[in-house]
This record gives sequence, structure tokens and C-alpha cells, in this order.
Amino acid sequence: MAGITERVYPKEIDADGIGNIQGVMYKVFTTRYSVARDWLREHFQGRKARVIDIACGSGYGTEILSELGNVVGVDLDPEAVNYARKNYKNERTSFMLGNADDAGFLKSLGKFDAVVSLATVEHVADAYRFMRWINRALLPGGASVVCFPSAVTMDWAIPHHKRDILRSAARRLFRKTGFEIKRDFYQNHKLDIRDLINETTSKDNEIPVPPLRQWVGYYLTHPHHFILRVYEITIGGGVLFADQEYLLLPVPVVDSSPARVSPASKSYE
Ligand SMILES: C[S@@+](CC[C@H](N)C(=O)[O-])C[C@H]1O[C@@H](n2cnc3c(N)ncnc32)[C@H](O)[C@@H]1O
Repeated sequence: MAGITERVYPKEIDADGIGNIQGVMYKVFTTRYSVARDWLREHFQGRKARVIDIACGSGYGTEILSELGNVVGVDLDPEAVNYARKNYKNERTSFMLGNADDAGFLKSLGKFDAVVSLATVEHVADAYRFMRWINRALLPGGASVVCFPSAVTMDWAIPHHKRDILRSAARRLFRKTGFEIKRDFYQNHKLDIRDLINETTSKDNEIPVPPLRQWVGYYLTHPHHFILRVYEITIGGGVLFADQEYLLLPVPVVDSSPARVSPASKSYE
């Protein structure tokens, strides 16, 4: 299945596959959807909410969110959207194909009580523009949950990831796009190096690992990330991933200093 490291297809995970990369990702990804659901349930105090899950992947998270009310899941990838329709369609979920980089498409979606976007901000062409859309798409009293890596990923995740946004930069991004942080949640995950090697050497996977020269080029310009990565693989005991997740409430933009960063740059680091 294409995009196997991009998203999880839960029903394709072996029964005993919980130790492999997809299994680890599934546990991590469902945890953050459950956190989003619980925060929003508390925020809306049981009131039914109209929710959008933007970049919903294969749709299992949209199903988790449907406990809150009607949820539309949107993703760029036709295979993911078809999988979601086949496996996670219920009376409260619907799925559509769409591109979060397309301002006209985003505007056409309308307004929501909650905008949930997990593991997306690192993928879109312009993080600032995307967060501004989220802000404008919220109905009065609405809230957003976003989640993205809090550790370096640009050494292995290019071209899917366009940037890394470390914690302090995330706070700056929210301030400049009109949000205050109401709740936060941080996760660290270790992947067994043997799983990673199995995955990258297996014949039938489609891992989009960048060519070696790209890794080398990245580390030449970011030597501190090379040291960090070596530490994580050796003394750190595994290949480390980390995520940051936030419940955000819209507030007036107070910091109007030039906020624009070049699209697809790493300048949020
Ligand atoms: C890491 S997955 C996250 C899926 C899901 N939100 C989750 O947390 O399990 C990232 C998803 O973003 C989608 N995506 C990337 N760029 C997108 C864009 N511009 N518009 C819509 N979806 C996009 C990918 O197809 C992929 O399914």
C-alpha cells in the first residue's frame, strides 16, 4: 500500500504487528485522536459539534471524532479517502478528497465548531496560511486541535514534511495566527532500529526514504541534528519520534510583526 509511512491503514496491520512501525504508529496516532476527542468533549460540554478532520488519512481518527457529532474527513490522497469511505463511514462521518494548500477549496468548506488537524501542519505548503484558515473556519465558541512533530524529522521525512516546528516556534506560530493554547500534550516514542531496518529492506514496502545524498546535505547544513540523531539511535536506545498536540482557542492577533515565513522552509525551527 502506498504511503505506508505517511499514514496507517489499521486493518492491514498484522494481528501480531504491534511491534512493527505501522503498529507503533497506530498506537501513537490513535492516542492523539483520543486526546483531541476528550479535550473537545470537555470544551463543548456534551453539546454536539460540527467537526472537520483535515488531512484525515485513512479515516480511523475521523471515526473516533464522530463521538462528538458530524465529522467530515478530508485528505489529498484518493487511496486514503477510498479506504476511509470503505472502512470508517458511519451515520456521522463523511469523507472527501481535497487539498489543504488550495485556499479556494478551504474557503468552500464553510465553518465548524472544531477543526482537527493532526500530523498536517508539517505537510502543508504554508503553515502560517493554513493556521489562519483554521482560525477563520471556526464558529463562535469553536476550538481547534493540532498536532505535529516536536523533534527533528527533516532528515528522513523529506519530501513529505516541509518543515520542523520545534516547541518555541510552535508558540510563535500560534500567537501570530491568532490562537491561545488552552491544553497541551507531548508524546515521545521509540522505534526499534531493527524494525526500521526490516521495513527499509523489505521488498514489498514503499517507504519514501530520501536518497543518501539528501541526508548528507541536510546534516551538512544542520550538524547539530546529526549529533542528535546519532545520540537517539545509540545512547538514546532507539529511533526517537516526538509529537506536540494543542487545544487552541481563537484570540485577536496581538503580535503583528512580520510573521511570514517562506513556504516550505525550515525557518520555524
Ligand atoms: C501523517 S498523515 C496523518 C493522518 C491523520 N491525520 C492521522 O493523524 O493519523 C498526513 C496526511 O496528510 C495528508 N496530506 C498531506 N498534505 C495534504 C494536503 N495539502 N491536503 C490534504 N491532505 C494532505 C496525507 O495524504 C496524509 O494522509
